[in-house]
Amino acid sequence: MCGIVGYCGDEQAAPILLRGLERLEYRGYDSAGLCVETDGKLVTIKASGKLKNLAALTNDGKAINGVCGIGHTRWATHGIPTDTNAHPHLSDGERIAVVHNGIIENFRELRAFLENRGVTFRSDTDTEAAAQLIDYYYDGNLIGAVQKAVSQLEGSYALGIICRDFPDTLIAVKKSSPLIVAHTGGGSAGYASFLASDVTAILKYTRDMTYLEDGDMAVLTRRGIKFYDAYGQQIEKTVTRIDWDADAAQKGGYAHFMLKEIYEQPRVIRDTISSRINGMTVDLSDAGITPDYFDSFDEIKILACGTAYYAGVAGKYWLEQLARIPTEVIVASEFRYADPIIGKRTLAVILSQSGETADSHEALREAKRLGAKSLGIINVRGSAITRECDNTLYINAGPEIAVASTKAYTALLAGLYLLAAAAGQKRGAISPERLSAIIGELESLPDKLEYSLKTCAEAAQYAASQYFNHSSVFYIGRNLDYAAALEAAHKLKEISYIHAETYAGGELKHGTISLIEPGTLIVAPAAYEPLTAKLRSNIDEVKARGAEILCVTQEHMAENLKSVSDYMITIPDCDATISPFLTAVPLQLFAYYAALMRGENIDQPRNLAKVVTVE
Ligand code: AGP
Repeated sequence: MCGIVGYCGDEQAAPILLRGLERLEYRGYDSAGLCVETDGKLVTIKASGKLKNLAALTNDGKAINGVCGIGHTRWATHGIPTDTNAHPHLSDGERIAVVHNGIIENFRELRAFLENRGVTFRSDTDTEAAAQLIDYYYDGNLIGAVQKAVSQLEGSYALGIICRDFPDTLIAVKKSSPLIVAHTGGGSAGYASFLASDVTAILKYTRDMTYLEDGDMAVLTRRGIKFYDAYGQQIEKTVTRIDWDADAAQKGGYAHFMLKEIYEQPRVIRDTISSRINGMTVDLSDAGITPDYFDSFDEIKILACGTAYYAGVAGKYWLEQLARIPTEVIVASEFRYADPIIGKRTLAVILSQSGETADSHEALREAKRLGAKSLGIINVRGSAITRECDNTLYINAGPEIAVASTKAYTALLAGLYLLAAAAGQKRGAISPERLSAIIGELESLPDKLEYSLKTCAEAAQYAASQYFNHSSVFYIGRNLDYAAALEAAHKLKEISYIHAETYAGGELKHGTISLIEPGTLIVAPAAYEPLTAKLRSNIDEVKARGAEILCVTQEHMAENLKSVSDYMITIPDCDATISPFLTAVPLQLFAYYAALMRGENIDQPRNLAKVVTVE
């Protein structure tokens, strides 16, 4: 989704802004722009399309002088992606420039209010209303004008603001949309202040960042940053050290971030699991989860979106099977308006890679409002959701840059599996023998993932070469295979644009089987052993109607499924409960290669954004 960068320091600002925006490209965008104060003027350059268009217009930023500016990548919400609608937006008279993430819901009223007072608007965006309103209230006191203006904004915003009259100052203010600031007091980056919507934009310069809370304002100059609360009182903020390094956000020799992230999974799962296994017990004390934690609720609601939601579907099976805790998984955007029946004996588990997804964030707030306890299972440290959850279990996947989530998916699975095992152990729902078997399985999982990556890649690539021209694919599975199939289909859709749909194996004959015709591809993760015989019957039903079958199963079960499979990919033998981790790998690779063969933009698929900060 949209990205913000701001810089104020010793160096020429525009090249730094462009480099920062490049780091934000993965979030998804359709136009870009920057604005730099130069000799008492706000010089603004904007271009629709990719960042290279903006770089070409500015000679990589070198054509624009000035040491203080703001930049933006825009993912269109209000107004089509044109140069005019791209950010930064300037006030009439070009005194104030603004970049904005989020949606200003009352922009039409604000626009009418200002137009009635003679202000001329140039764009169709909600953002321009913010720039014009700040200027409307400006009387020489910039901080006061920003405070008055934002008090009238409804909706969500992260704003980066510059003013022609204050050539060495940036202002940052936010509500319900992430914004971070940082200052480098000397060193290789010199004296400079930065603002950004995402740590990756400025990780190259510093790892010490301050997250703004709703209502906070930061005033940035090259000498330092001052913070104010919503009432204008100066406040102190804590600095968070980011433990990712800049290299982790590079492709490292892989053709795409997605491929790199698929191959990182053994390491990621090791990092998520290893410190939380202590002998023959699961220890989640780093998340503040002590054994008595599990006495404080009777039911779990898992709230999430997209891939995180599909991880939650597997989580529901685990929490019910291993811990016997009634669990429901609910799409966050539905939960928040559903008038849900929950209370203080409910644990709301929020799953999110980014920790910034607006729907998941609001679902958390609704759950808390109704009295539920909250646990975040989250990747990005210090993100908005983690700051509001009672407890957070970090999944330690490192920066995930590809829009299509892979390593964060399996790391979310690992977080959920650990939670289910810890709960099962405390509630006595699993025997000590079963617990030690499960722990053994978890410990061997990184090696099995490593092995799968070596042995499955070629088969996945070959299967993709046979089917990448299909326009529609069905995925089927039962129980944990169903959970795996949901995410596998989601992956194929996102990056290859092939229509893909998932059905519980037993559900096909209730309608969808009418769509099966000779040549239809059915992808079946069939690794959850207790139900593979049942799934095999469903495969037989579609096979009898001419479907072609791509089956992913455990090595020892392959013989049994061979006769019904046109293509088979085997994964190492494992406990059935572990199978979703292992079936994920070849099916991620299948989606990756299908998209590659279709020539699609794998890391930045059309219309999608990495961090969805709007409702
Ligand atoms: C994943 O491949 C998707 N791009 C998307 O479904 C994503 O999982 C969803 O938007 C939720 O994001 P989050 O995990 O950052 O909350």
